[in-house]
Amino acid sequence: MSADYPSMTTAEIRSKFLNFFEERGLKLYPSSSLVPDDPSLLLANAGMNQFKEYYQGKKTMKEIGAISCQKCVRTNDIDCIGEDGRHLSFFEMLGDFSFGGVSKEQACAWAFELITKEFKLPLDRLYFTVFTEDDETHDVWRSLGVAEDHISRLGEDDNFWRAGPTGPCGPCSEIYYDQGPEFGCGSPDCAPGCDCDRFLEYWNCVFTQYDGQEDGTLVPLPKKNIDTGMGLERMAAIMQGVQSNYETDVLRSLVAVGERLAGVTYGEDAECDLALRIIADHSRSVTFMIADGILPGNEGRGYVLRRLLRRAIMKAQLIGIEGHFLNEYVDEIVRLMGDVYPEIVENRELERGLIMAEEDRFGATLRQGQAYLEEALGKLEGDVLSGEEAFTLHDTYGFPVEVT
Ligand code: GLY
Repeated sequence: MSADYPSMTTAEIRSKFLNFFEERGLKLYPSSSLVPDDPSLLLANAGMNQFKEYYQGKKTMKEIGAISCQKCVRTNDIDCIGEDGRHLSFFEMLGDFSFGGVSKEQACAWAFELITKEFKLPLDRLYFTVFTEDDETHDVWRSLGVAEDHISRLGEDDNFWRAGPTGPCGPCSEIYYDQGPEFGCGSPDCAPGCDCDRFLEYWNCVFTQYDGQEDGTLVPLPKKNIDTGMGLERMAAIMQGVQSNYETDVLRSLVAVGERLAGVTYGEDAECDLALRIIADHSRSVTFMIADGILPGNEGRGYVLRRLLRRAIMKAQLIGIEGHFLNEYVDEIVRLMGDVYPEIVENRELERGLIMAEEDRFGATLRQGQAYLEEALGKLEGDVLSGEEAFTLHDTYGFPVEVT
């Protein structure tokens, strides 16, 4: 299948989404920091984070709702990053939010209008999922013209959304784009919700109606709320007619930085491509986290930052990039995204210094660990390194288990 709608850049998609909802009376909020003003959350992971108290009824706004383009970091799927086309540790999330001012019918109708009339996505490629028992949302999509065989029901894992263990949550309805059978796993059961790249989930519409408590109970919220999250990079992949986030305008430019530094061409070698994708992704997380005041450390968000930095350095070594290199990525990120997120420009020197210090520290760790590992491998009798040696490498040398 080839795309049969006009191509759009990431910047154009961002503007179109935000303008559409601003014209309908929702108020534009800037992205909040990656460091949430919420002790229950390590890092900002969704547009709704900054509106938690509005959902809980502790704050009100005079407008019918809010919109934002939120910078997010999620590392729960870190092993999928680069392996498939759609998982990222850093991404931008476009969202519209309402705290009783917009009905479910209206929110779905706007979502439908935006994707079919403004972005002009063909209805036969669109699929919708609803929470198992949510007949109401099923009927709303049907009334908007979605065919019965393009709506399916999924359980809690897919269609009940929470930002964290506690806080506002609720059933959700996800919108998928069918990238075509050539991108699928070929299984007869392949359908929206499958792990392969065929059905790309790009917009999640959450009907936030509960406040999750520490003991697991769900307390009904004062209002019926809306919280939607559209993955900007995923939408860019759809609008640019490419299979993966890494081939969209912004991320492809970062993959190109790696191609230049390593002297390789993307698309020629699977292992090399994986490394190029991981570094492209992680470099954005690292830049934005430092710009928001996070320092590399051994716990909490500092550990998340250090882990991402070190994974990027390791992957770079695998494709022959040595020494200080990450600042080349940062320069490109600043060029591509600095107009939307001025904090990455203002904190350029901090980003530069912290990254180079970590490159030096981890480079030394890798060299020492490598020497110990080579000695241990030289003495090996069978073909399996003992758990004790892997432990020493990790515990004494700080050598990452995944490298061992
Ligand atoms: N808050 C909705 C989402 O992140 O999917």
